[in-house]
Amino acid sequence: KRVLSVASEAVPLVKTGGLADVVGALPAALSGQGWQMRVLIPAYRGVLDKLGKTKVVWSDDDLFGGPARVVLGKVGGVEAMALDAPHLFDRAGGPYSDGQGDYWDNAERFAALSWVAARIARDGVGDWRPDVLHAHDWQGALAPGYMRYWGVGIPSVLTIHNMAFQGRVGANKISALRLPPEQFTPDGYEYWGDISTLKAGLTATDAITTVSPRYAEELMRGEFGLGLEGVIQARAASVHGFLNGIDPEVWSPDADPHITPFTAARMAGKARNRAALEAEFGLEVPGPLAILVSRLTPQKGIDLLPGALEDFIAGGGGLAILGSGDAWAEDMVRGLATRYPGRVGVRIGYDEALSHRMFAGGDAVLVPSRFEPCGLTQLYGLRYGCVPVVAAVGGLADTVIGATPATEAAGAATGIVFHPVDELALRQSMRRLLSLYADCKGWAAMVRRGMKADWGWEASAARYAALYDSLIAP
Ligand code: ADP
Ligand code: GLC
Repeated sequence: KRVLSVASEAVPLVKTGGLADVVGALPAALSGQGWQMRVLIPAYRGVLDKLGKTKVVWSDDDLFGGPARVVLGKVGGVEAMALDAPHLFDRAGGPYSDGQGDYWDNAERFAALSWVAARIARDGVGDWRPDVLHAHDWQGALAPGYMRYWGVGIPSVLTIHNMAFQGRVGANKISALRLPPEQFTPDGYEYWGDISTLKAGLTATDAITTVSPRYAEELMRGEFGLGLEGVIQARAASVHGFLNGIDPEVWSPDADPHITPFTAARMAGKARNRAALEAEFGLEVPGPLAILVSRLTPQKGIDLLPGALEDFIAGGGGLAILGSGDAWAEDMVRGLATRYPGRVGVRIGYDEALSHRMFAGGDAVLVPSRFEPCGLTQLYGLRYGCVPVVAAVGGLADTVIGATPATEAAGAATGIVFHPVDELALRQSMRRLLSLYADCKGWAAMVRRGMKADWGWEASAARYAALYDSLIAP
């Protein structure tokens, strides 16, 4: 049984966030479930080099304004197809923007990706024909749309990794995106007079999934559905929340080449990692050392930090930050390092190896997100004995058991969960972190519990496989 996965990023070829981790991990996870998954992503500059030896499996002289081909290769066990269309994807900047702002033709770029995916679903490539198409986020969402509009009889699944990005563009692009004008209706891809590629997928696809059970429920309300809640409600019977897993090959504290290894039973390495991390950031922290590894955007609640740190720092805490994103947020976290020298350290940029050293050395990881479809850093934190301090939203609420009198009495707490998502609640949970940390025995027990939980892909892969099976059942 075969499934074609279409997305804008996939590890190890290109990554800006958790989407890439998930798209890159699914093929291996699903192969154990009897499903062979191939991934289709754009051949941004550099992708073809990483793919190594490839063969051309599809081509077209005019894909949205230029020639295009699809090449098939294999990388890290993943069978990947890259859409090589230089006029759309061979650019100096990132996948979505050139550093100044988003590319003007992102709608065309990802419509082209989706269009090719739909063509492959319809015609196959060589003797490879998918039984199911699985699209991700607004960039892949037009694939189920085109399939429906063309009458392709292959079932599709659309996964929402982030409802905040809806692929919204003006209706003047209808023909440029090769969309049928008669589907420009509220039941099709029309959205407040514009086109929404995400809506096109949501109304056309056979099944909708998102990356945690809680986010699946949240999406039915305006606060998280962000205008598309009605569409989700209307399709409630086809909406599923499957939690993301993490890759144990990459995230295992007992076998991580970036750190001094440790396990729940032998924690000496953890202390060494912490000392190294303090030295690396130039910090001297008597109490708990918190970390933050994140895109620096409003979603992540970074703006709550300045108003929430005072008591934590005064009580002996410290904070190491790694991130990149919006200029205002980068300036703001740099300002924190100036305000609390020796206690707050900042690295602006994207650094995979450093992120491993931070989870290994940190005592707690802060995830104060306003919304979080799943979130991966709290899971890395749990694995690495770096206690998550999280907002009670989405996948954060589904994966962290907050310390309360009841959960502590039951010996169940694995972190700190706060609500509402504001400065006061974060400030209080940072104080709570100080007091939990001060109770050495209780702290050690909480750390151990978190490390022992299983966040592998097995359970969710079985759910995806069961969903695909249900869609192809006669
Ligand atoms: P999102 O996809 O919304 O950014 P996730 O928590 O799902 O949130 O995934 C973020 C991923 O990106 C994680 O693997 C995290 O470790 C990684 N990451 C984010 N920022 C950085 C950074 N500056 N350096 C290294 N890794 C980062
Ligand atoms: C998105 C979400 C994040 C999720 C990731 C992978 O980027 O913001 O919460 O973990 O997708 O599904």
